[in-house]
Amino acid sequence: MVAAPIPVAGWGDKDDPWECLGERSSGATVYRVGEVPSFYVKTTPPRHPDDHRFNPTKEAERLRWLAAQGLPVPEVVALDANDELAWVVTRALPGRPAARHWKPEERWRVIDVVADVARTLHALPVAECPFERRLADLIHQASSSMALGALDLDDVDPSHEGWTAQQLWDELSKMTPPAEDDLVVCHGDFCLDNVLVDPETLTLAGILDVDRAGVSDRWMDLALALYNIGQDDVMGLRSAARRALPPAVRHHRRPAQADLHPTAGRISLS
Ligand SMILES: Nc1ncnc2c1ncn2[C@@H]1O[C@H](COP(=O)(O)OP(=O)(O)OP(=O)(O)O)[C@@H](O)[C@H]1O
Ligand SMILES: [Mg+2]
Repeated sequence: MVAAPIPVAGWGDKDDPWECLGERSSGATVYRVGEVPSFYVKTTPPRHPDDHRFNPTKEAERLRWLAAQGLPVPEVVALDANDELAWVVTRALPGRPAARHWKPEERWRVIDVVADVARTLHALPVAECPFERRLADLIHQASSSMALGALDLDDVDPSHEGWTAQQLWDELSKMTPPAEDDLVVCHGDFCLDNVLVDPETLTLAGILDVDRAGVSDRWMDLALALYNIGQDDVMGLRSAARRALPPAVRHHRRPAQADLHPTAGRISLS
């Protein structure tokens, strides 16, 4: 248990126990609050505007928009900042992350839930989505993050481990960006630990971690999901994922998009 790093005002109880889940790859520090978890708190130190690591305001805006679209995302109960920290507090959703261990007979259903999340998100009205996450923006962000020294070089795929920011940038610059002709509302960090599944009914319990959601190419999500599933094939979900994810993935219709992702070359589809 740790001391609360922020004031508890208007939500929760000041006597609730706080547990720090650590600093995450996103740059957020995540806390679980309550005996039975009632709230999750994500904090960051103040960030430079060109620092594109986790941003509580972006997460809160996207959570609210996705909730208004009827998606099961956590309710935002506080968004605030002081001199040391900025934070967003959400109400805890039930369910367990799809990334956990599931019994063999449950796995197909779990991966179907994940695939359904992709279909539902990607069916949202692009014209009404106020958030952009287009390739040109990402390339620009990568460049400004590199200039700031704000790239997390510990969070690269194994084939790029030990590379400097400059080497990664040079590699990226050699690639020709593919045409973005399949724009949808993307999650932006579509990994199995960001989808919560009800362990009783094996249905969707929640979608988390949406600060990078926005209009982007469908492959942004699909490439990351497939990489994530293939990389940690702890549950034997890889073959299930190939079957359940949208047909475009199975047929590897647009390999250029998959290759664009920093995990290029690691996505092998049958
Ligand atoms: N409102 C919530 N309800 C239930 N669980 C939550 C909630 N918010 C966060 N969690 C749990 O905390 C974990 C980390 O939260 P989140 O994914 O939002 O942070 P993150 O900074 O992106 O972490 P990571 O880099 O590991 O993805 C989630 O995978 C989930 O297990
Ligand atoms: Mg997450």
